[in-house]
Amino acid sequence: MISAIIMGVLYLFIGLSSDTNNLEKQILIEKKEHPREKRDSFEEKGLHYSNVVGKLPLWLNGRFIHISPAQYTLGDEKIWHFFDGFGLLTSYTFSGDKIGVCSRLLKTDQLKASLSEGKINLLGFAENFGEFFPLRTTSDGQKACTSNANINVMRLGEHYLALGEIPMPVEFNPETLATEGMFDYADDLPKKDAWESAHPKKDPETGIVYNIMYGFGFMSDLIIYKFNEKTLSREKIASHHVSYASYVHDFSITKRFIVIVAYPLVVNPWDLNGIREKSTESSFIGAFKWKPDQGTIVSVFDKNDGSLVQEFKLPPFFALHHVNAYENANGQIALSLLAYDDPKIILDLALFPDGNISPSNIRTITLDFQSKKASLKTVSNISCDFPVVPDKLLGREFRYFYAVCFNNCDDKRNGLMKYDLLQGKQQIFYRQGLLFGEPVFVPKPDGRSEDDGVLLVVGRNDEGYSLFVIDASTMEELAHASFKGAAATQLHGHYFGKKPV
Ligand SMILES: [Fe+2]
Repeated sequence: MISAIIMGVLYLFIGLSSDTNNLEKQILIEKKEHPREKRDSFEEKGLHYSNVVGKLPLWLNGRFIHISPAQYTLGDEKIWHFFDGFGLLTSYTFSGDKIGVCSRLLKTDQLKASLSEGKINLLGFAENFGEFFPLRTTSDGQKACTSNANINVMRLGEHYLALGEIPMPVEFNPETLATEGMFDYADDLPKKDAWESAHPKKDPETGIVYNIMYGFGFMSDLIIYKFNEKTLSREKIASHHVSYASYVHDFSITKRFIVIVAYPLVVNPWDLNGIREKSTESSFIGAFKWKPDQGTIVSVFDKNDGSLVQEFKLPPFFALHHVNAYENANGQIALSLLAYDDPKIILDLALFPDGNISPSNIRTITLDFQSKKASLKTVSNISCDFPVVPDKLLGREFRYFYAVCFNNCDDKRNGLMKYDLLQGKQQIFYRQGLLFGEPVFVPKPDGRSEDDGVLLVVGRNDEGYSLFVIDASTMEELAHASFKGAAATQLHGHYFGKKPV
């Protein structure tokens, strides 16, 4: 492998398939240097402040924390896929006319092992330097579970957790961002040999947080569970055998249902079990195959008992993120997501996201229980991803969502978009030369309209970065604060108010 790196180009085979079905696609991740070297574009810094330009809302007094893949090199060794970088936590706090920022690497066992061994020791999404399942040998010879929890953050009770797609979160201190170690759920649900969504969903009325995972064993099991914040455990609602597990990054809830969209990017658990015997060039995602002939299966489950209510079949497509879903006045489920024609976006991100990436579009799915039919409609060809809606409208009827858009700005870079699903119109906020990350929506206390609140978003370039506070109703800037130095791409995060939200 090392010699191949020296040759400059490596290929990681995704979906190695000897299947003769012509509809199955063999997909390659090309391992080569990005023409604009973007690795490790971050700085780890303690809390420091910058003056605010403009005026902050007085009620904006919480803490905005996000995590991003950030560190991709260790000595001469490199991590090749954007999703696999070691995570960097960043927090923003608000105090009068200043905004404070603090950034710390998440000191996972994987990062610590890599540092102590002087080589990348990673069990990741597209990286596999040993074995897939999250068991690795520690320095004292013990087998231990580890994960690179670099995707999202959440609060469970009084605990702040960094989440990956292996169900083993890492706890951190929200004030100092110091890593406190693996967080061990007090339950018997899988903590290894499993893959889950890093996008748990909190019902705005009940406060119950739901999530889904695939447990891999002799067969694959789809497990629907909810968190218990008092016992710090996960409680299984239901599990279902599935012949093929789909790569499902996100899902939706409605008032009564859980909606899972299973794209035809699927894995047989036996292929996962065989990874380490097959090739050191294999990976978790490399065991998946794109089988468009299977179509996209939308499954609706009862939130209370996890029973399967209805399945619907749609043409093949792929998505990373749902926008939201709700039960409409006709008793149908209306679900919006940001769709790609195929999973090539996963390959594009191997070259880091500043390059050209596959376009997405905004699609709505209507699920009709009476006719047992689903319809799929492309409502806009605006290419965008990282959608957010107000927490209080999760699973409820909504009109607007906010996202990063990629092809609608004068300088052909990206911008922050507000999309009106009712009128099919968009508003774009951008600043020349800045790349924007995922926004978070912070509702105005006692706000009346759906868009009564602010968006927090980081825009960055090679010299520095700024946190913008944007009026979500007008998409105009209220304030910003700028910082020198490099910032990691802002992926998923959360605004933690003074009171639990
Ligand atoms: Fe995500």
